[in-house]
Amino acid sequence: MVGRSTDGTEGLASGTTSATDGSPGPAPTRTRRARIAMAPASNPAPAPPKPSPAPQVYLNGRFLPRAEATVDVEDRGTLFGDGVYEVLRVYFGKPLALAAHIERLHRSLGGIRLTPPAEAERLGAITTELLERNALREAKVYWQITRGTGPREHAFPAQPRPTLLMTASPLNPIDPASAPTQIKAITAPDERWHNCWIKSLMLLPNLLARQRAAEAGAGEAIFHRDGVVTEGTTSSAYIVREGAVWTHPADRWILGGITRLVLLEEARKAGIAVEERAFGLEDLRSADEVIVSNTTSHGQAVTHIDGQPVGNAQAGPVARRLHGLLMKRIVAECGG
Ligand code: PDD
Repeated sequence: MVGRSTDGTEGLASGTTSATDGSPGPAPTRTRRARIAMAPASNPAPAPPKPSPAPQVYLNGRFLPRAEATVDVEDRGTLFGDGVYEVLRVYFGKPLALAAHIERLHRSLGGIRLTPPAEAERLGAITTELLERNALREAKVYWQITRGTGPREHAFPAQPRPTLLMTASPLNPIDPASAPTQIKAITAPDERWHNCWIKSLMLLPNLLARQRAAEAGAGEAIFHRDGVVTEGTTSSAYIVREGAVWTHPADRWILGGITRLVLLEEARKAGIAVEERAFGLEDLRSADEVIVSNTTSHGQAVTHIDGQPVGNAQAGPVARRLHGLLMKRIVAECGG
């Protein structure tokens, strides 16, 4: 069961409570929907957008209906998770931080020693056409590049022909005046590899920890490795102490989140103290605020960690401020 935040995203939504109702989670989807139905008419939570009946995808040089898009059964993405991906958010018809996503994709490709196909030079243009063909202005866009098809040998094919897949799915528009959504989180040992900076398709440790979170009625699991908090299964993690934001340095142990990049930039511009430093589980548990962020869920306030309240178990002032700064940046960058 997957809950959705107010713009219809699924990113960190399981166990999410709507910021508009202000109550701490967890709220199973059915309960939450019931509460939304009773919300005042001036602040209705929009229903999740319906996917188009005939969505178009982009696969290896062609736009085609999703139902007709097929990938070889021996694609190395399927056999080995031998590939990388990106998730972008489109607002008002324009992707946020497109250049940063392209840059990170190329870094990830370099990390797995995969030369991108020539068409990868036109990622921006292909994305624009995909959005047009699906008549989408508010969307999640997924890019995936694998090392292509070949007999199941661990060593790379001599001349790989990468598979490039792109999909777009509808989301609801943001409300720039909204407050951050609130979620519960659990902690989980970080059992991933030593190159978490690569946005790799190999996500099993993330999936297993996230499933544990869902089973505990939480929306995210926050990883720790050797006592150090790294990040969420699908989010960057932050704590707030005496007004300062701490987050793990963007090294090999975390994915350099694009939302993290944007949030830290906006925080610094606004005079909020930011420290990219390692911190421990005890710092997490005793923090004034805990925040997680990703492309589809923005910044979310964590109200509980492993069942214990964070601060007063409400979105704190820094989470609210950062969310406001992000909303402003989105409107400024993508047009309103
Ligand atoms: N994941 N860390 C991990 C492990 C992630 O998977 C993600 C995002 C982030 C945040 O990155 P960004 O701000 O660029 O979205 C951090 C995406 C949303 C996903 O896998 O669906």
